Amino acid sequence: MSGRLDAERLNTFLEYLVRPGDVDEWFICGPFELVQLVRDTLEEAGVDRHRVRFELFTTDRPDRPEGSVGRPVVVDEGDAVRKITFTLDGLTASINTPAHGRETILNAALRVRPDVPFACAGGVCGTCRATLVDGTVSMDENYALEPEELERGYILTCQSHPTSDEVTVNYDS
Ligand code: FES
Repeated sequence: MSGRLDAERLNTFLEYLVRPGDVDEWFICGPFELVQLVRDTLEEAGVDRHRVRFELFTTDRPDRPEGSVGRPVVVDEGDAVRKITFTLDGLTASINTPAHGRETILNAALRVRPDVPFACAGGVCGTCRATLVDGTVSMDENYALEPEELERGYILTCQSHPTSDEVTVNYDS
């Protein structure tokens, strides 16, 4: 039983050492692939996902093409843009982002308000969450929001890109 955990070892643990029915809560900590493996295996073993908490060391997605990472976003005259409006601490601001720039709402908002909240910028911590008031977005990763929060309209602004011409979000809700 030495070596890195895999599904086979984990199932052996669950059968002989740690019976899922005897456990109140599960705390998983590690790199993305390992955490996913354990979460999936526990779910297959009948564990309620609300009893499983996890912390990621990394999201292991260095290959993801992020148009706005590492260089400032410049909106040239004549560029097709999308308008992002956001409210934070009772103040509302708007900013344009290039329609094809893949800039996140967080990065766009930070260009005009350096106090916009964020921490991991990787979809893990939930610090950047806001409610989507108007418009549509695509969200790359989400390791922080529960399905109930998604249903209530929350998004992770560090992972969300506008897909409609205008998007409005509220950090205060
Ligand atoms: S800053 Fe951590 S999830 Fe967005």
